Formats: sequence, structure tokens, C-alpha cells
Amino acid sequence: MGTARSMVIVSLLFKLFLLLSVPLRAQRTTTTEFTFRGFSGNQSDIRTEGAAMIKPDGILRLTNRKPNVTGTAFYRKPVRLLETHINSTNVTIRSFSASFVFVIIPSSSSNGGFGFTFTLSPTPYRLNAGSEKYLGVLNKENDRDPKNHVFAVEFDTVQGSRDDNTDRIGNDIGLNYNSRTSDFQEPVVYYNNDVPNRKEDFQLESGNPIQALLEYDGPTQTLNVTVSPARLGFKPTKPLISQQVPKLLEIVQEEMYVGFTAATGKDQLSAHYVMGWSFSSGGERPIADILNLSELPPPPPNTAEKRGFSSQIIVLIVSLSAVMLIMLVLLFFFVMYKKRLKQEEILEDWEIDHPRRLRYRDLYVATDGFKEMGIIGTGGFGTVFKGKLPNSVLIAVKKITPNSMQGVREFVAEIESLGRLKHKNLVNLQGWCKHKSDLLLVYDYIPNGSLDTLLYSVPRRSGAVLSWNVRFQIVKGIASGLLYLHEEWEKIVIHRDLKPSNVLIDSNMNPRLGDFGLARLYERGSLSNTTALVGTIGYMAPELTRNGSSSTASDVFAFGVMLLEIVSGRKPTDSGSFFLVDWVMELHANGGILNAIDPRLGSAYDGGEARLAIAVGLLCCHQNPASRPSMRIVLKFLNGDENVPEIDDEWGYSNSSRSDFGSKLEEYVSSSSIASSFVTRISTSRISGG
Ligand SMILES: *[C@@H]1O[C@H](CO)[C@@H](O)[C@H](O)[C@H]1NC(C)=O
Ligand SMILES: *[C@@H]1O[C@H](CO)[C@@H](O)[C@H](O)[C@H]1NC(C)=O
Ligand SMILES: *[C@@H]1O[C@H](CO)[C@@H](O)[C@H](O)[C@H]1NC(C)=O
Ligand SMILES: *[C@@H]1O[C@H](CO)[C@@H](O)[C@H](O)[C@H]1NC(C)=O
Ligand SMILES: *[C@@H]1O[C@H](CO)[C@@H](O)[C@H](O)[C@H]1NC(C)=O
Ligand SMILES: *[C@@H]1O[C@H](CO)[C@@H](O)[C@H](O)[C@H]1NC(C)=O
Repeated sequence: MGTARSMVIVSLLFKLFLLLSVPLRAQRTTTTEFTFRGFSGNQSDIRTEGAAMIKPDGILRLTNRKPNVTGTAFYRKPVRLLETHINSTNVTIRSFSASFVFVIIPSSSSNGGFGFTFTLSPTPYRLNAGSEKYLGVLNKENDRDPKNHVFAVEFDTVQGSRDDNTDRIGNDIGLNYNSRTSDFQEPVVYYNNDVPNRKEDFQLESGNPIQALLEYDGPTQTLNVTVSPARLGFKPTKPLISQQVPKLLEIVQEEMYVGFTAATGKDQLSAHYVMGWSFSSGGERPIADILNLSELPPPPPNTAEKRGFSSQIIVLIVSLSAVMLIMLVLLFFFVMYKKRLKQEEILEDWEIDHPRRLRYRDLYVATDGFKEMGIIGTGGFGTVFKGKLPNSVLIAVKKITPNSMQGVREFVAEIESLGRLKHKNLVNLQGWCKHKSDLLLVYDYIPNGSLDTLLYSVPRRSGAVLSWNVRFQIVKGIASGLLYLHEEWEKIVIHRDLKPSNVLIDSNMNPRLGDFGLARLYERGSLSNTTALVGTIGYMAPELTRNGSSSTASDVFAFGVMLLEIVSGRKPTDSGSFFLVDWVMELHANGGILNAIDPRLGSAYDGGEARLAIAVGLLCCHQNPASRPSMRIVLKFLNGDENVPEIDDEWGYSNSSRSDFGSKLEEYVSSSSIASSFVTRISTSRISGG
């Protein structure tokens, strides 16, 4: 009985032992070992989700470089990681080891990301896992949740992706428990085997294959992580991370899936690849196969780096060559400019099709380089040079520097038409030329000079005085020329600056009007909202000082003043107290009109013509522009074809209006912007103000 009872007990114990030992044996036998040298032919062993896929060349791609994507790749079968011991309270995690070679190719060296992980997960996918900093492992809702049972070794490539430590350089490895935040992290280096404790830096996202080795030792609960560039061909003996990870016990469940997750960010775009992967768990000291780079599929072409590099190079080359090209073009134009300056001037578009445009070079030669010796006149609108064309024709070149080039283009158009004016009492305009800021007008050369020199300077020097006949002929000639401008040409041309210095006397003692229309240039060049008044004191009609608008009537007024000047040999005004018109008018009122005749003539004049001329002159100087005769009538008066009306007391210059005019004039003179020299040379100076 005793033996039978003891036999029963033994058999019961044996059964119990068997009962206990079967799962123990089962556990011991479920080891996992695999090695993928590339994933060709093993697609079914890897479960991929999201952006992850196995490429035809056998490389596992976790993410491409699209923004905001995730990708996961887990080994098809779960791995038994927990070991329960006989008394079932001592639960340990089995030792395991993983080795893989990965490549991260950023879209450019500055904005790669986000990163990838080696993960232990209860599921072979990461449901609703987020991109960016969640790395395809977790999301906003389940972050830090203990129920996740996720452990991730994080390969982080984004700088400042952490909320807690935003300055850190994004090239490190971290250990994450149920959280996107690492409990522990280490910047990426490897330890040189030859020099103890010598750290060697390298970049995870270099685009080159990197070998990673994870070794977990169950008994010591130690996790070692070693990373190094795969090209080194050896495993650094000192791991980057060697940490006791007791926390892993809270995470690891009976069976866990092992694999990778990766994510990109909105702007942080890296492609993450795994070229090969070996894993081993179970056994006393499982060692995953070290992957030999030469046995793996060729790494993905580092297009990002190359592309970024080459595009940078291209940008550099393009910009350099653009700069070179621009400089060459500039040089070319500079040389051409220099050349053309020597040969001929550069033309603006509008200048080209003007038939009267002359070459600066020709004028330069004709005037012998605009030498001072060639100056035959100054004042007016510019300096006048005498020149001689190759065909011996003499010319007068007026060099004007307009106060602004603004109106020049339009003015030239006018010059073109003025060039078509042909009259024996006009100075013929041959052409023009623009050179830098100068405008050159080319006229016929008139040998006897201007009327004012004949009237004042020459007599004084030689004692010869212009005879009455010549004076009367000149008056008629001027009237004839002015009539042509006012009425006989296709357009009305207002001279605007009639005065003796603008009347040239040719070899037949015929007067020729010059500078007609030129005042327009000064009016145009001024600011549009101011009215530039151009004219010469003494010759300006009273209405000009009021509204500044030139008209044929204001030309007639100037003609009248000039007529009286020619007859009397007196300038229209001196320092301000003498006004020729007033003076003649007073003589007329006193009946002593012939006292106005130039005393230098003595009695050598025709009394009838003289009275006629003075009467016409006074009539032309009527205060009311509407009461002045037209040039056609003036010429009829002068030719005796029509009688000059009596000049009555209502002629316009009542004493009050006369003084009014005088004061207006002075007021105008003093208020306008005139150089001080103006005041002393009031009769010949020019007003240009607004
Ligand atoms: C990979 O595939 C090859 C051929 O189909 C097979 O022999 C090998 O065992 C597979 N490797 C793994 C780790 O499953
Ligand atoms: C990323 O994608 C998820 C869904 O796939 C979307 O909810 C989220 O707004 C995206 N984030 C960005 C920054 O585009
Ligand atoms: C289980 O066994 C270990 C030693 O193997 C011992 O330290 C522990 O106290 C035991 N637990 C129980 C509940 O017996
Ligand atoms: C648990 O079991 C393992 C394996 O048998 C043993 O090495 C370890 O010392 C045990 N741990 C404890 C706390 O008894
Ligand atoms: C981990 O690294 C330490 C330090 O180098 C080493 O002593 C230990 O053996 C390593 N453990 C494993 C499992 O490789
Ligand atoms: C890798 O493989 C090549 C050729 O098969 C061999 O020469 C080399 O020694 C291997 N390297 C390692 C580290 O095993």
C-alpha cells in the first residue's frame, strides 16, 4: 500500500511536473531568428503599412520624401520576449539582439526629417499613429499612455523637435517608453576601437548606410545600442548607449512584434530605408547576424544629397555665369560706347529719323572743337560759335544747355518744323544736334551781326550811324518776317523774344529774325505747374507780366518797342526810371514827336516816314492787346497802303496805368529769381521765373 500510495504520489508529481514543464519547454523552444540581407523574396515576411514598401531592388523603404507621411514595417510573426520561471513570480525579458543597416536621405541637407524608430509593439501596425514628432509610433491622444505597451529606440534627425529641449542638435538616439519623448538620449557618435573612449561624430541623415546594433541582456536588464557608419565594416566594441532598462518590464507583453516606424514632417522630408535586418531572441546569449554591407542590396542612390548638391552647384554655376555674362555685356557696351563716342554719338531712338539731325562730329570739326575763339555771340539762349562746313559754307552754331532736357524731344519735333520756315527775313535753321546735355542749333551765318551792335556798339566805335533809310528798311523787314511767322506759314509761330539782339543784319542790310520759337524750349523745360515767363524786360507786353501767356499781340508789342528803339536809338528802359514808350508818348502828347528821333541822325531822316514809324510803334505798344494792329496791318501802315489811326488819349497809357505798369514791372523784377547781375543789366537780361 505504502509503495502503491507512494507510486500514485510520484505519478501525480510527475504529471504535475509535466503539466508545468510543457509550457516551460514550449517557451524555451519559441526562439525567433531571422536575417534579411535585403528583402527580395521575403515581402510576405514583412508587414508594411502607410508609406512603407519593399522596393524591387529589395530595399525596405519606410517613408518617401512626401510631407506628413508615416510608414511601418513589422516582422510578420510576433516574438516571444517574456520568460516566466518555475515559481512564476520571477518574470524576465528574454535577451534579444537586433542588427540593421539603414539609410536616411534628406530632401536637402537643411530640412531632413522627421526620423525613424526600432519598435517593440503589441501590434504589427501602429493604428492612427501620427507623423512628425510622433514618428509613426503614437499620436496626440495616446502619447504617454501606459496601455500602449510600446518601446521605441528613436533615431532622431530633427533639431529642436522636442518640447522640453528645443536647442538640441537633431542627430541623436533616444529610448522611448509609451511616449514620443525619450527617457534617455545620446547624440550620435561611435567609439573608435583603436583609441579608447575616442568619439567619432557622424550624421544619421548623411545618406550613407549606417549599421545599428541593439543588444538586450535579460539577466542584467541592460540594453546596448551601437551605431556606426556601415562602410567601416566593423562593430565598435563600446556601445553608444548601455543602459539598464528595468522599465521595459512594464511594457513588454508575452508576445511583441518587432519592426520599424518612420515619419516625415510638413517641411522635414527624409526618405528612410532599411537595407538589411537580422534579429535573434531566445537562447542564452542571442546574437543577431552582423550584416556585411557587401551582401546587402546596393544602397539607394543619394539623390537628395546629389540633387541638393548638384542643384546648389547648378545655381552657383548659373549665377556665376549670369554675372560673367552681365559683366561681359557691360564690358562690350562700354567698349562700344567708347568707340562710338570717338566716331559718333549714341542716338536715342527718337533722334534717328529726324532729317535735320546733324552729326556732332561734323559740328565739332566745323567749329574747330567749339573753341572760345570761334564764339561770335553769347547771351540769349546760349553761346554762338562760328563754323565752316567742309563745303566752305559758313554756319552759326548755337549751343544751348536747356534748364531741363524734358521738353527737348518735343522741341526737336518743333525744330524740325521750324526748319521748314523759309523767309528772307528769317535766319535759316539748317539743323540740330543733341550732344549730352547740350542742344546745338545750326543756322546760316549772318555776317553783319545783330541789330543791337549796329545800333549801339558799332556807331560808338566807328562814328558811323545807321542811316534812316537803313533803319526804315530794317523796320519793314522785321515786320515782314514777323508777319510770315504770325500769319503766312502753316502754323502760327510766336517769336516771344523779339529784340535787337535777336535780329541779325545780313550783307544787304536786310534784317533776319533769329531765335524764333526758342523760348518755348524754356517754357517746356520748366515744371508743368508753374508758368515760366520768358522774355526780355522792356519788350514784354504788360499783359505778359499778368498772365504770362504769349500771343501774336505780345510779339506786336515787342515789335513796337523795337521800332521806337530803332527810330530813337534809345534802349527801352534804363535802370527803371526811364521808359521809352512812355517817353515817346509824352513827346507825342506834347506835339514834339520828332524829338524822339535818334539825335545822331541829325536832320538826315525823312520826316514823314519818321512820324509814320513812331505812330505805328506807339500803336503797337497799346496797353490793350486787342487794340494793337496785326502785323499785316502794321506792314500796310509802313508801306503807306493804309493810314495810321490817330492816337488818342484813350491809347491805353493813362498816367495811372502807366505808373501801374511800371510798378508791376519792378515788383515782378524784384520778386523773380534773378541773379544780381540782372539788376545792373536790366534791359538785356532775361527773366525766367514763375
Ligand atoms: C527569405 O526568402 C527566402 C526565399 O524565399 C527564404 O529562403 C528565407 O528563409 C527567407 N528569410 C526569412 C528570414 O524569412
Ligand atoms: C498630417 O496628416 C494628418 C492625416 O494624415 C492630418 O490630420 C494632419 O493635419 C496633417 N498634418 C499636416 C501638418 O499637414
Ligand atoms: C521564486 O524563485 C526565486 C529564485 O529562483 C526566489 O528568489 C523567489 O523568492 C521565488 N518566489 C516565490 C514566490 O517563491
Ligand atoms: C529569475 O530567473 C532567472 C533565470 O532563471 C535568474 O537568472 C534570476 O536570478 C531570477 N531572478 C530573481 C529575482 O530571482
Ligand atoms: C553592453 O555594453 C557593456 C559595456 O560595454 C558590456 O559590458 C556588455 O557586455 C554589453 N552587453 C551586451 C548584451 O552586449
Ligand atoms: C564582408 O564580405 C566580404 C566578402 O564576402 C568579406 O571579404 C568581408 O570580410 C566581410 N566583412 C565582414 C565584416 O564580415
